[in-house]
Amino acid sequence: MSAGQPDPNNIPRHIAIIMDGNGRWAKLRDKARIYGHHAGVEAVRKVVEACTELGVEYLTLYAFSTENWKRPEEEVNALMELLVRTIRRETPELDKNNVHIGMIGDGHSLPPACIAELEEAKKMTADNTGLNLILALSYSGRWEITHAVQQIAKDLVNGNIKPEEITEQTIADKLNTANMPEPELLIRTSGEYRLSNFLLWQTAYTEYYFTETLWPDFDKEALFNAIIDYQNRERRFGKTTEQIQVK
Ligand code: FPP
Repeated sequence: MSAGQPDPNNIPRHIAIIMDGNGRWAKLRDKARIYGHHAGVEAVRKVVEACTELGVEYLTLYAFSTENWKRPEEEVNALMELLVRTIRRETPELDKNNVHIGMIGDGHSLPPACIAELEEAKKMTADNTGLNLILALSYSGRWEITHAVQQIAKDLVNGNIKPEEITEQTIADKLNTANMPEPELLIRTSGEYRLSNFLLWQTAYTEYYFTETLWPDFDKEALFNAIIDYQNRERRFGKTTEQIQVK
Protein backbone atom coordinates (compact mmCIF):
# COMPACT_ATOMS: atom_id res chain seq x y z
CA MET A 1 0.00 0.00 0.00
CA SER A 2 1.46 3.32 -1.01
CA ALA A 3 1.55 6.15 1.50
CA GLY A 4 2.62 8.75 -1.03
CA GLN A 5 5.66 10.96 -1.19
CA PRO A 6 7.82 12.08 1.73
CA ASP A 7 7.91 15.83 2.49
CA PRO A 8 11.01 17.03 0.58
CA ASN A 9 11.67 19.65 3.27
CA ASN A 10 12.10 17.11 6.06
CA ILE A 11 14.25 14.35 4.61
CA PRO A 12 16.57 12.70 7.19
CA ARG A 13 20.20 13.59 6.49
CA HIS A 14 21.35 10.15 7.65
CA ILE A 15 19.44 6.87 7.41
CA ALA A 16 20.87 3.69 8.92
CA ILE A 17 19.50 0.28 7.99
CA ILE A 18 19.75 -3.17 9.56
CA MET A 19 19.04 -5.31 6.51
CA ASP A 20 17.51 -8.42 8.02
CA GLY A 21 15.55 -11.40 6.73
CA ASN A 22 17.54 -12.57 3.69
CA GLY A 23 17.82 -16.11 5.05
CA ARG A 24 14.09 -16.40 5.83
CA TRP A 25 13.21 -14.92 2.43
CA ALA A 26 15.25 -17.70 0.78
CA LYS A 27 13.84 -20.40 3.07
CA LEU A 28 10.30 -19.41 2.11
CA ARG A 29 11.32 -20.26 -1.46
CA ASP A 30 13.13 -23.49 -0.53
CA LYS A 31 16.43 -21.94 -1.57
CA ALA A 32 19.85 -21.69 0.09
CA ARG A 33 20.47 -18.65 2.32
CA ILE A 34 22.92 -17.12 -0.15
CA TYR A 35 20.07 -16.84 -2.66
CA GLY A 36 18.44 -14.46 -0.18
CA HIS A 37 21.64 -12.40 0.11
CA HIS A 38 21.75 -12.10 -3.69
CA ALA A 39 18.16 -10.84 -3.64
CA GLY A 40 19.21 -8.49 -0.82
CA VAL A 41 21.69 -6.81 -3.15
CA GLU A 42 18.79 -5.86 -5.46
CA ALA A 43 17.05 -4.23 -2.50
CA VAL A 44 20.25 -2.32 -1.73
CA ARG A 45 20.27 -1.00 -5.29
CA LYS A 46 16.66 0.21 -5.06
CA VAL A 47 17.20 1.89 -1.71
CA VAL A 48 20.40 3.61 -2.85
CA GLU A 49 18.55 4.96 -5.91
CA ALA A 50 15.67 6.20 -3.77
CA CYS A 51 18.04 7.90 -1.30
CA THR A 52 19.85 9.62 -4.18
CA GLU A 53 16.51 10.79 -5.56
CA LEU A 54 15.46 12.22 -2.18
CA GLY A 55 18.77 13.91 -1.43
CA VAL A 56 19.62 11.81 1.64
CA GLU A 57 23.23 12.65 2.58
CA TYR A 58 24.28 9.45 4.39
CA LEU A 59 23.03 5.89 4.09
CA THR A 60 24.71 3.42 6.44
CA LEU A 61 24.04 -0.26 5.77
CA TYR A 62 24.78 -3.00 8.30
CA ALA A 63 26.16 -5.45 5.74
CA PHE A 64 28.25 -7.67 8.03
CA SER A 65 28.48 -7.51 11.81
CA THR A 66 31.32 -8.62 14.05
CA GLU A 67 28.95 -11.38 15.21
CA ASN A 68 28.34 -12.54 11.61
CA TRP A 69 31.84 -14.12 11.62
CA LYS A 70 30.23 -16.87 13.76
CA ARG A 71 28.03 -18.03 10.87
CA PRO A 72 28.98 -21.24 9.01
CA GLU A 73 32.22 -20.75 7.11
CA GLU A 74 30.49 -21.50 3.84
CA GLU A 75 28.01 -18.65 4.33
CA VAL A 76 30.72 -16.22 5.49
CA ASN A 77 32.82 -17.00 2.40
CA ALA A 78 29.82 -16.69 0.08
CA LEU A 79 28.88 -13.33 1.65
CA MET A 80 32.43 -12.00 1.27
CA GLU A 81 32.52 -13.11 -2.37
CA LEU A 82 29.15 -11.49 -2.96
CA LEU A 83 30.41 -8.27 -1.43
CA VAL A 84 33.53 -8.23 -3.58
CA ARG A 85 31.57 -8.94 -6.76
CA THR A 86 28.84 -6.44 -5.91
CA ILE A 87 31.25 -3.62 -5.13
CA ARG A 88 33.19 -4.33 -8.34
CA ARG A 89 30.04 -4.47 -10.48
CA GLU A 90 28.16 -1.55 -8.95
CA THR A 91 30.89 1.01 -8.33
CA PRO A 92 31.06 2.47 -11.88
CA GLU A 93 27.28 3.11 -11.85
CA LEU A 94 27.43 4.51 -8.30
CA ASP A 95 30.27 6.75 -9.41
CA LYS A 96 28.17 8.04 -12.33
CA ASN A 97 25.44 8.90 -9.85
CA ASN A 98 27.89 10.93 -7.73
CA VAL A 99 27.74 8.42 -4.84
CA HIS A 100 30.66 8.45 -2.43
CA ILE A 101 31.51 5.04 -0.95
CA GLY A 102 32.76 4.72 2.60
CA MET A 103 33.16 2.04 5.23
CA ILE A 104 32.96 1.64 8.99
CA GLY A 105 34.14 -1.39 10.92
CA ASP A 106 37.26 -3.43 11.52
CA GLY A 107 38.58 -3.31 7.96
CA HIS A 108 41.72 -5.26 8.87
CA SER A 109 39.70 -8.39 9.62
CA LEU A 110 38.23 -8.59 6.10
CA PRO A 111 39.72 -10.88 3.42
CA PRO A 112 42.41 -9.15 1.31
CA ALA A 113 40.25 -9.25 -1.85
CA CYS A 114 37.48 -7.43 -0.03
CA ILE A 115 39.88 -4.80 1.36
CA ALA A 116 41.35 -4.25 -2.13
CA GLU A 117 37.92 -3.89 -3.76
CA LEU A 118 36.75 -1.45 -1.10
CA GLU A 119 39.91 0.63 -1.41
CA GLU A 120 39.43 0.79 -5.17
CA ALA A 121 35.77 1.83 -4.79
CA LYS A 122 36.65 4.49 -2.21
CA LYS A 123 39.36 5.85 -4.49
CA MET A 124 37.11 5.90 -7.55
CA THR A 125 34.34 7.77 -5.73
CA ALA A 126 36.50 9.94 -3.46
CA ASP A 127 35.60 13.24 -5.12
CA ASN A 128 31.87 12.57 -5.36
CA THR A 129 29.59 14.96 -3.52
CA GLY A 130 26.25 13.10 -3.59
CA LEU A 131 25.00 10.35 -1.30
CA ASN A 132 27.56 8.92 1.12
CA LEU A 133 26.99 5.17 1.01
CA ILE A 134 28.62 3.75 4.13
CA LEU A 135 29.03 -0.01 4.40
CA ALA A 136 29.30 -1.33 7.95
CA LEU A 137 31.55 -4.37 7.57
CA SER A 138 32.92 -6.42 10.42
CA TYR A 139 31.32 -3.70 12.49
CA SER A 140 29.81 -3.61 15.95
CA GLY A 141 29.05 -0.66 18.20
CA ARG A 142 30.87 -2.16 21.18
CA TRP A 143 33.95 -2.87 19.06
CA GLU A 144 33.89 0.75 17.84
CA ILE A 145 33.51 2.23 21.33
CA THR A 146 36.25 -0.04 22.72
CA HIS A 147 38.53 1.06 19.90
CA ALA A 148 37.76 4.73 20.67
CA VAL A 149 38.55 4.20 24.36
CA GLN A 150 41.90 2.65 23.41
CA GLN A 151 42.73 5.72 21.31
CA ILE A 152 41.79 8.09 24.12
CA ALA A 153 43.83 6.03 26.62
CA LYS A 154 46.86 6.43 24.34
CA ASP A 155 46.32 10.20 24.26
CA LEU A 156 46.10 10.20 28.08
CA VAL A 157 49.31 8.19 28.48
CA ASN A 158 51.09 10.48 26.03
CA GLY A 159 49.90 13.53 27.96
CA ASN A 160 47.91 14.88 24.98
CA ILE A 161 44.71 15.08 27.01
CA LYS A 162 43.72 15.24 30.70
CA PRO A 163 40.89 13.02 32.09
CA GLU A 164 38.72 16.08 32.87
CA GLU A 165 39.11 17.28 29.27
CA ILE A 166 37.35 14.20 27.90
CA THR A 167 33.90 15.19 26.62
CA GLU A 168 31.22 13.46 24.58
CA GLN A 169 32.76 15.15 21.55
CA THR A 170 36.18 13.60 22.36
CA ILE A 171 34.55 10.17 22.16
CA ALA A 172 32.46 10.96 19.06
CA ASP A 173 35.63 12.17 17.30
CA LYS A 174 37.31 8.80 17.85
CA LEU A 175 34.45 6.75 16.42
CA ASN A 176 34.46 5.49 12.83
CA THR A 177 31.61 7.92 12.20
CA ALA A 178 33.59 11.04 13.20
CA ASN A 179 32.47 13.93 10.94
CA MET A 180 29.21 12.19 10.04
CA PRO A 181 25.84 13.43 11.33
CA GLU A 182 24.05 11.03 13.68
CA PRO A 183 21.26 9.03 11.99
CA GLU A 184 17.83 10.59 12.40
CA LEU A 185 16.19 7.37 11.25
CA LEU A 186 17.14 3.72 11.77
CA ILE A 187 15.23 1.04 9.90
CA ARG A 188 15.22 -2.68 10.72
CA THR A 189 13.44 -5.13 8.50
CA SER A 190 12.01 -8.63 9.09
CA GLY A 191 10.09 -8.04 12.31
CA GLU A 192 13.08 -8.11 14.67
CA TYR A 193 13.04 -5.41 17.35
CA ARG A 194 16.71 -5.14 18.31
CA LEU A 195 19.67 -2.88 17.66
CA SER A 196 22.06 -5.87 17.48
CA ASN A 197 25.16 -3.84 18.33
CA PHE A 198 24.70 -1.34 15.49
CA LEU A 199 25.68 2.32 15.98
CA LEU A 200 25.20 2.15 19.76
CA TRP A 201 26.61 5.61 20.49
CA GLN A 202 25.18 7.37 17.45
CA THR A 203 21.55 6.30 17.87
CA ALA A 204 20.94 7.98 21.25
CA TYR A 205 18.24 10.22 19.70
CA THR A 206 17.50 8.28 16.51
CA GLU A 207 13.93 7.40 15.56
CA TYR A 208 13.55 3.64 15.10
CA TYR A 209 11.33 2.16 12.40
CA PHE A 210 10.61 -1.56 12.40
CA THR A 211 8.85 -3.37 9.59
CA GLU A 212 7.82 -6.99 9.05
CA THR A 213 9.01 -6.76 5.42
CA LEU A 214 11.97 -9.06 4.73
CA TRP A 215 14.99 -7.20 3.36
CA PRO A 216 14.82 -8.57 -0.23
CA ASP A 217 11.24 -7.23 -0.46
CA PHE A 218 12.21 -3.77 0.81
CA ASP A 219 11.96 -1.26 -2.03
CA LYS A 220 11.53 2.44 -2.80
CA GLU A 221 7.93 2.46 -1.61
CA ALA A 222 8.93 0.75 1.65
CA LEU A 223 11.62 3.36 2.18
CA PHE A 224 9.18 6.18 1.45
CA ASN A 225 6.76 4.69 4.01
CA ALA A 226 9.52 4.61 6.63
CA ILE A 227 10.46 8.23 5.95
CA ILE A 228 6.83 9.37 6.04
CA ASP A 229 6.39 7.59 9.38
CA TYR A 230 9.50 9.39 10.66
CA GLN A 231 8.18 12.72 9.38
CA ASN A 232 4.98 12.25 11.37
CA ARG A 233 6.87 11.96 14.65
CA GLU A 234 7.77 14.77 17.00
CA ARG A 235 11.45 14.86 17.87
CA ARG A 236 11.85 16.55 21.26
CA PHE A 237 15.42 15.67 22.34
CA GLY A 238 14.30 15.70 26.00
CA LYS A 239 12.44 19.01 25.68
CA THR A 240 8.68 19.65 25.99
CA THR A 241 6.35 20.00 23.00
CA GLU A 242 5.91 23.71 23.81
CA GLN A 243 9.67 24.29 23.83
CA ILE A 244 10.22 22.78 20.40
CA GLN A 245 7.28 24.75 18.95
CA VAL A 246 9.09 28.03 19.81
CA LYS A 247 11.07 28.90 16.71
C1 FPP B 1 20.71 -10.38 7.25
O1 FPP B 1 19.83 -11.41 6.83
C2 FPP B 1 21.62 -10.00 6.20
C3 FPP B 1 23.00 -10.05 6.25
C4 FPP B 1 23.73 -10.50 7.44
C5 FPP B 1 23.84 -9.69 5.10
C6 FPP B 1 23.39 -8.48 4.34
C7 FPP B 1 24.04 -8.51 3.02
C8 FPP B 1 23.46 -8.11 1.87
C9 FPP B 1 22.11 -7.54 1.77
C10 FPP B 1 24.19 -8.29 0.60
C11 FPP B 1 25.39 -7.44 0.39
C12 FPP B 1 25.24 -6.02 0.71
C13 FPP B 1 25.86 -4.99 0.10
C14 FPP B 1 25.83 -3.66 0.74
C15 FPP B 1 26.56 -5.11 -1.18
P1 FPP B 1 19.92 -12.80 7.59
O2 FPP B 1 20.84 -13.67 6.85
O3 FPP B 1 20.26 -12.57 9.02
O4 FPP B 1 18.44 -13.29 7.45
P2 FPP B 1 17.65 -14.20 8.49
O5 FPP B 1 17.53 -13.40 9.76
O6 FPP B 1 16.34 -14.40 7.81
O7 FPP B 1 18.42 -15.47 8.67
